[in-house]
Amino acid sequence: MRIVIPGGSGQIGQVLIRSLQARGDEVAVLSRAGRAEPGLPCRVVPWDGRTRGSWTQELEGADAVINLAGRSVNCRYSLANVSEMLRSRVDSTLAVGAAIERCARPPRVWLQMSTATIYAHRFDAANDEASGQIGGSEPDAPRRWDFSVEIAKAWERALFQAKTPATRRVALRSAVVLSADPSLHLDLLLGLVRIGLGGRVAGGRHYVSWIHERDFVCAVELLLAREDLEGAINLASPNPLPQREFMAALRTAAGVPVGLPATGWMAEIGAFVLRTDTELILKSRRVVPGRLVDAGFAFEFPNWPAAARDLVTRRRVSPRARREAA
Ligand SMILES: NC(=O)c1ccc[n+]([C@@H]2O[C@H](COP(=O)([O-])OP(=O)(O)OC[C@H]3O[C@@H](n4cnc5c(N)ncnc54)[C@H](OP(=O)(O)O)[C@@H]3O)[C@@H](O)[C@H]2O)c1
Repeated sequence: MRIVIPGGSGQIGQVLIRSLQARGDEVAVLSRAGRAEPGLPCRVVPWDGRTRGSWTQELEGADAVINLAGRSVNCRYSLANVSEMLRSRVDSTLAVGAAIERCARPPRVWLQMSTATIYAHRFDAANDEASGQIGGSEPDAPRRWDFSVEIAKAWERALFQAKTPATRRVALRSAVVLSADPSLHLDLLLGLVRIGLGGRVAGGRHYVSWIHERDFVCAVELLLAREDLEGAINLASPNPLPQREFMAALRTAAGVPVGLPATGWMAEIGAFVLRTDTELILKSRRVVPGRLVDAGFAFEFPNWPAAARDLVTRRRVSPRARREAA
């Protein structure tokens, strides 16, 4: 396939590009930097993530677009940062939609990144696509967390409001993608585990939804291929688990028996020091892949203990050996 990946220079893009190229796909990344970076082994085309430009020609006759563009959510939720998180996602999605609308030979499929954070902070039941509760205004969540839900809803509206009748559209409601590459998420968690701080946080009842990189890539490949699948689709392992169990399995994988617990206010201070937001640490994300399972998708890593073992083991070997094994 010929595939265009706006925002493909980031963590998920690198994981996807490796696998798509390995199966023979031709990939072009749209990047604001507009030049090939070391570690980005494909053609890079400049765009600004907002306005029309020569980049739109890349979409003409392409088989697929996978739009990953968006400012990182790993930051303090200041007004400026929230506004940039929103604008970068909505503007880039509107720009991709407008470009597809103008294509004489539009791509057959547009996979648009969204997020599992769109679902409510809840403990009682898992959110699938059919019966899941969309978040915002949960009584036991800080109002600040509503921002991410509003951003996710606006992001998906921008996708589905585009008039692209010849292009199948899928919103990828993904949980955190855990890969063995150097990555903020796993590096931070393993760093805490190794200094003995990888314990439960605020009681550790809140759920962690996650997906192993290999399952993420295989799910994307399935969604590229299956013409009957469109709309919002959850990309998450079928077994989200409470944070205290998640950390215990990561400690076991890393060979660290003890992890000191932290209270909610310690998490607030930690988030402040790390310039991030407690939502990323404390929101109960209980999301399951209803539609993928219905479509017959078989997860290679449905359970966290085995996924953690794989990621920690591969994290120990050289980046090259890791890439070859991926
Ligand atoms: N990583 C996860 O586990 C996860 C889970 C669920 C959803 N997501 C979403 O999936 C997308 C990709 O995730 P990722 O982890 O690969 O993110 P990432 O590493 O931060 O990469 C995102 C890319 O978006 C582009 N970008 C950043 N700011 C932008 C802006 N203001 N306007 C336009 N483009 C901008 C950047 O590309 P250039 O600098 O080259 O333009 C960057 O490489 C993000 O939207 C993220 O929110 C990620």
